[in-house]
Amino acid sequence: MLKEVALMVGCITLLSGNAMASDMHGKALYEKSCAACHGFDGKVSDVGKKLKPYPARDLTALSDVVDRDELRRIIAYGIRGTAMVPKKYDLDSAEIEDVIDYIFTFKRKVNMLNGKKRFEQVCATCHGFDGRAKTGMGAKNLVYSKLDLKETVHTIRYGRVGTKMTSKRHQLTNPDIEDVAYYVHELRFKADINKGAKLFSSTCKACHSSPSAIKLQGNRAHALKITDMSDYLLDLRIRHGRHVDRAGKGVAKLSEDDTQNIIAYLKKEIK
Ligand code: HEC
Ligand code: HEC
Ligand code: HEC
Repeated sequence: MLKEVALMVGCITLLSGNAMASDMHGKALYEKSCAACHGFDGKVSDVGKKLKPYPARDLTALSDVVDRDELRRIIAYGIRGTAMVPKKYDLDSAEIEDVIDYIFTFKRKVNMLNGKKRFEQVCATCHGFDGRAKTGMGAKNLVYSKLDLKETVHTIRYGRVGTKMTSKRHQLTNPDIEDVAYYVHELRFKADINKGAKLFSSTCKACHSSPSAIKLQGNRAHALKITDMSDYLLDLRIRHGRHVDRAGKGVAKLSEDDTQNIIAYLKKEIK
């Protein structure tokens, strides 16, 4: 009881001291409990590099790409079967937040060239050098992926259960993963609305006088708007199924990129 009161008073003094209190506290906790393996600068100590079965991980490549919640979970529960054992550090939940705040002050510069190199080594066999996944491996086309950066990183870190997309956490360092994620997003197709407008005039206008004149089909059509639909679903409705019978070969022959350009134009006009 006395100890608890003393601790509380300690905390209050720290907090009221100045705005940096929590950072200072986080730094002190980190240096005491984490730096031996993760390094004072977050880049892994010599001891950390030699740990079995897996070395400690670089913490400088997390702040922009990994959710706080994930770090909370790892610090509180550890990682089974590794030297990342949680109980030893004895941090309460407020202290965990302070340590995370401190870890998030570690930064590094993204290295796109490294991202490209690692992507080509580790991902291209399935996703293709251009990210379009025309490899027969059943991988996803990353050029049209809608995942945000954190979701992409999460997929790389943990994979997708039950698919060939396995976790790459032990094949790549955290800096590698961050670089690859930025590179993968750089490969994304960037829709061109002007091209979409031209294609609409040449391929669609004969039947649809304007984007807002298009009537969606199906029994929920009255409740749906083109702007509510994902680009993927719209692509299916335009280039496949009954619409091809209605609209003819010109539409069936559109490439995926053409259709994405048209969709970008439709969504801009309808909004
Ligand atoms: C005895 C060495 C050791 C200490 C001390 C240690 N860690 Fe770790 N930590 C590891 C190892 C090893 C891993 C990697 C385990 C793996 O590959 O799954 C790890 C992983 C992590 C990860 C996950 C990184 C990632 O990319 O998945 C975080 C976050 C982390 N540690 C934070 C901390 C914090 C915060 C402390 C201090 C409170 C701490 N660690 C103390 C060895 C240590
Ligand atoms: C052995 C083949 C294989 C390798 C190697 C591979 N992937 Fe995948 N990847 C897949 C498959 C299959 C899926 C689809 C999983 C599913 O059905 O959800 C996928 C899905 C993804 C997704 C999700 C895309 C989305 O929009 O849902 C991302 C991101 C991704 N991979 C990135 C990578 C990166 C980056 C690498 C290299 C570090 C990589 N993958 C290596 C097979 C692979
Ligand atoms: C030869 C005529 C024709 C052409 C060309 C045509 N469409 Fe259609 N489209 C139709 C008809 C008929 C429908 C049914 C609803 C209606 O009358 O608006 C339809 C429906 C649609 C729908 C709703 C589909 C659904 O399942 O809800 C979309 C989206 C659409 N068209 C987009 C396009 C786009 C984009 C193009 C140009 C790339 C195009 N259409 C070219 C005739 C055409």
